Amino acid sequence: MGADVPHNAVTYWALETLREQSIARIAGDIKVPNDLDASERLLAGGADYNDMCSGCHLKPGKTQSDFTLGLYPFPPNLSLPDKEHGHSDHKSGDHKSSDQYSLQRQFWIIKHGIKASGMPAWAPGHDDKRIWNMVAFINQLPKLDQAQYQILTARDDASESNGH
Ligand code: HEC
Repeated sequence: MGADVPHNAVTYWALETLREQSIARIAGDIKVPNDLDASERLLAGGADYNDMCSGCHLKPGKTQSDFTLGLYPFPPNLSLPDKEHGHSDHKSGDHKSSDQYSLQRQFWIIKHGIKASGMPAWAPGHDDKRIWNMVAFINQLPKLDQAQYQILTARDDASESNGH
């Protein structure tokens, strides 16, 4: 066994662990709003997600984009359930506290971005409410089919045109 082979995996693991620990330390103090399933949040977050995030994080019916193939680490497909997009380590079981932490972590990541990856920080110009709206949306996203996705991500002006 060449000593050089596991090196990348170990380095990757170390970076990933460090990153998760530092996020955990900071994100644990974030206060999660208790109205995250409010429909205004989903609608606002959906439109933002479609504009700003779906190019990297994809959407129902879209499994890859040329753009994301060039990124390393590649962006998790947020339209899939947590386990399938490859970052499930922090979300074990259905304990309330781990769900809570998963939300805090998503908020933190969206707000600050992840250094040394393609994940940009959105804090400048995006207030916390807007970020929570996106957190709310990405937690519903794996349950949406293409039609539901279209509806939730439509901007206001489109909602008049279908007789509603
Ligand atoms: C330029 C591509 C790109 C764009 C645009 C982007 N992201 Fe990301 N995002 C990434 C990458 C790459 C990662 C993974 C970083 C890693 O694993 O180190 C990531 C990680 C995440 C994660 C953590 C996922 C997890 O469970 O580990 C969340 C949540 C997230 N992005 C949300 C968003 C939201 C919301 C938007 C839109 C406001 C967005 N991202 C826009 C590239 C992008």
